[in-house]
Amino acid sequence: MTYTPDTARYTNMPYRRCGRSGLKLPAISLGLWHNFGDIDPLDNQRALLRRAFDRGITHFDLANNYGPPAGSAETNFGRILREDLRAYRDELIISSKAGWQMWDGPYGGFTGSRKHLIASCDQSLKRMGLDYVDIFYSHRPDPYTPLEETMGALVQLYRQGKALYIGISSYGPELTRAAAEILKAEGVPLTINQPNYSLLDRWIEPELLAVNDKYGAGAIVFSPLSQGFLSDKYLRDIPEDSRAARLDWVRAGLSPEKLKLIRQLNDMAVGRGQSLAQMALSWTLRDPRITSTLIGARTVEQLDDSLGALKNLSFTADELALLDRLTRSALPDIFNEPPKATGQDLIENPVFPD
Ligand SMILES: NC(=O)c1ccc[n+]([C@@H]2O[C@H](COP(=O)([O-])OP(=O)(O)OC[C@H]3O[C@@H](n4cnc5c(N)ncnc54)[C@H](OP(=O)(O)O)[C@@H]3O)[C@@H](O)[C@H]2O)c1
Repeated sequence: MTYTPDTARYTNMPYRRCGRSGLKLPAISLGLWHNFGDIDPLDNQRALLRRAFDRGITHFDLANNYGPPAGSAETNFGRILREDLRAYRDELIISSKAGWQMWDGPYGGFTGSRKHLIASCDQSLKRMGLDYVDIFYSHRPDPYTPLEETMGALVQLYRQGKALYIGISSYGPELTRAAAEILKAEGVPLTINQPNYSLLDRWIEPELLAVNDKYGAGAIVFSPLSQGFLSDKYLRDIPEDSRAARLDWVRAGLSPEKLKLIRQLNDMAVGRGQSLAQMALSWTLRDPRITSTLIGARTVEQLDDSLGALKNLSFTADELALLDRLTRSALPDIFNEPPKATGQDLIENPVFPD
C-alpha cells in the first residue's frame, strides 16, 4: 500500500542540537544494526521505518556491515527508502560507517585506511541508492593506521559532498581529542561522536563528554538499552525470540550482578510509571550533551514502547542519586571500562599482521 506519512509527525519529538553544529537530531534515533538484514522479514522492516518516521524519527543509522549478511541492511533500507520515503529525503538524516569487517582481504575491514573508508562509502551509497550520506563515521579506532590518514579520508568525503557531517565511533577521550584536532586543522568540524552508553555502561561520563563539548561535537549514544537487557524481558528467563537467546555473546553479558541490578531498576521504573526501557532511555537524555539516544527495535510494539520515554524525561535529584548508588554498587567498573574497540583488540589479535 502506498505510504503517506502522518501529518502530525513533528508534534511530539524533541529535536536537539548536535554539539555546536547546525544539525538537529531527534532525541530518539533508530539504528539498523539488527532486524534489517536479509534474514529479517521485509514487511516488518517497512513497518518499523514507517512507524518511526510517523513518530518523528528523522535519523536512521546504518553501517556497511549491518545485516546479516553484511551490506543487506543498507540494501533493504535503500529499497524501502526508494519505495516509501524518497519524497522525504530532505527530512531525513541517514548515516553510515566503515571500519569493521566488511569484505575479503586486507582492505575489507578492521582498518581505518583511506582505501577502506573511501571504497566503503562508495559501496554504501550504491546500496542505499543515495548521492550522499548525512553523516559518515570512522566506525572504530585502528591502532596501525595513522589517525591523519583516517581523518584525511573523512575530510575528502566531506569535501566531495559525499558526507555532509563527519563522525567517529568508539573512540576514547584521547583519540577523540587527537581526531578533532586533525580535523580542525583541515577546517572540518568533528560534528558527532557515537559511543555506547547506558545505565549498565557509563564509561563516557568521566571524560569523553567533556572532550566532545570542548570541540563542539554532539553525542549520539548507541545500545542505550544495553542490547535489550534494560527492559522487563529478562526478569524471569531468556525469552526465545530475544537477542540473548539468538546470540551466545550477548547472553554471556547477562551476569547475575547485572540481573540483580536490572530487577532493582525495574522496580524503580514501575514507581515512576514507566517501563524499564523507557526509564533507561530517558536517563540517557538527562544530560544535554547527549544529542540523541540510538535505539534498536525488533517490533513496532517495542518501538512504540521506547518512544513512550519521551512522555517523562525528567528525574528528581533523589532519583538520579539512587540510580548512581545502584549502578555504582552493583557494577563499579562501568565508569572505567573502555569501549569494546579501543584498538587494543587489534593489537592482541591482528587480522592481517604486519
Ligand atoms: N557504532 C557502533 O559501533 C555501534 C554498535 C552497536 C550499535 N550501534 C547502533 O546503535 C543502534 C542500536 O543498538 P542496539 O540495537 O544494541 O540498541 P538497544 O536499543 O540497546 O537494543 C535494541 C534491542 O533491545 C530490544 N528492545 C528494544 N526496545 C525494547 C523495548 N521497548 N522493550 C523490550 N525490549 C526492547 C530488542 O531486542 P530483542 O530482539 O531482544 O527483543 C532490540 O533489538 C544500532 O542499530 C546501531 O545503529 C552502533
